[in-house]
Amino acid sequence: MTNWKPNSWRNKPAKHIPEYADQDKLNNVLKELSNFPPLVFAGESRSLKEHLAKVCEGKAFLLQGGDCAESFAEFHPNNIRDFFKLLLQMSLVLTVSSGLPVVKLGRIAGQFSKPRSSPTEIIDGVELPSYLGDNINSMNFDAESRRPDPERLLKAYSQSASTLNLLRAFSQGGFADLNKVHLWNMSFVKENAKEKYKQVEQKVTDAIAFMNACGITSENNRRLRTVNFYTSHEALLLPVEEAMTRVDSTTGEYHDTSAHFLWIGDRTRQLDGGHVEFCRGIKNPLGVKCGPTSDPEEIVKLTEVLNPENEAGKITLIARFGHEKVEKHLPSLIRTVKKAGRNVIWSCDPMHGNTVKASTGYKTRPFENIITETKKFFQVHDSEGTFAGGLHIEMTGQNVTECIGGAQNITDKDLSSRYHTHCDPRLNANQALELAFLISEEIKKNSNFAKSKIKQAS
Ligand code: PEP
Ligand code: CO
Repeated sequence: MTNWKPNSWRNKPAKHIPEYADQDKLNNVLKELSNFPPLVFAGESRSLKEHLAKVCEGKAFLLQGGDCAESFAEFHPNNIRDFFKLLLQMSLVLTVSSGLPVVKLGRIAGQFSKPRSSPTEIIDGVELPSYLGDNINSMNFDAESRRPDPERLLKAYSQSASTLNLLRAFSQGGFADLNKVHLWNMSFVKENAKEKYKQVEQKVTDAIAFMNACGITSENNRRLRTVNFYTSHEALLLPVEEAMTRVDSTTGEYHDTSAHFLWIGDRTRQLDGGHVEFCRGIKNPLGVKCGPTSDPEEIVKLTEVLNPENEAGKITLIARFGHEKVEKHLPSLIRTVKKAGRNVIWSCDPMHGNTVKASTGYKTRPFENIITETKKFFQVHDSEGTFAGGLHIEMTGQNVTECIGGAQNITDKDLSSRYHTHCDPRLNANQALELAFLISEEIKKNSNFAKSKIKQAS
């Protein structure tokens, strides 16, 4: 890697990075972080990249989900458990219907910092700096709370480490055993989704009984009792990403050890900017958000800068156009990337282009628009002969009321009842499961079609 160092981003303009009043304090905290143990091991990121290469070939599906912003207030083992249950349930629904393995990637254990549309917020005539995420400042509306405080970075590291510890225990310790699918259910899931999930459960139970009869059991086969689970967050707060970047002793390559997968947001993907500079030097698999303002040629250039060897599984393009714009923008992006011969995974983020303000003042997302964008994303890929390989969503295992619609028919008036997000509105477990059922059929159709195209082309 030419002229790259973990700190070379500092020579480029980097947006959405807060100014800390006390630079000495910040530098002391960053020094401390750089001596803390890595949160993930480089070998794990490599194995994720191998799984993602299968997605590139149309042989697996990527499910990426979690909070928009993790918070100190919502940090609780039950929340982590319920998020994990939901991700497992969704994966099961997708696998049973499509026959494809699902790569499970959480927006968790490090997803704290947020780019904001405005640097300040005005309430009742009082203007203060915007809330930027729990590892930077506090959501409370007073000047002291909104001041960026480096100490928060240490708390975020500690929360990420213990979240990841529990997730590793769940993944490997028996909780994810396919004999336990009935335990992943959540009490508040509505009858229709529950009934449909029961049918999926039954299929799995029958398949397991058959395998047991053939001598394959969870005692003698790890694959039946464990899952591979990976973590991700937006690579936004570069001083922290730099502090967590280490040389992998087995290969001599740089890895950002704060998560397995990092992505560059829609607002920080400038070719000459600090975020792209930082990400081009790390070996982790990377995501790039693409929206209505992205120029297809520039996205191709980004894939070249971030993935000069055109390695399959390295780059995931996360499309977030909005239900009204996806059909207009996605086809030309797909064609330009295809023509340039770039290996990418196409993932659909049906959340960030569909945010609206409810009549009650809350930021929300109509579930039907989320469904519409997802369906259109699949349709465009069908027409272009490409594999729609992933879904990127903001979701929680809690019974929140943040997105309107869905089987519970959440209305504008219901939003205030359980609106807990620290940033964007999330799908609750009912809505996320409903989405999984709705798209599982689309995946099946699209993957068969795309596979035949890939075969014809080779
Ligand atoms: C996000 O994923 O929370 C986000 C800010 O998305 P985007 O960069 O697509 O706006
Ligand atoms: Co968000």
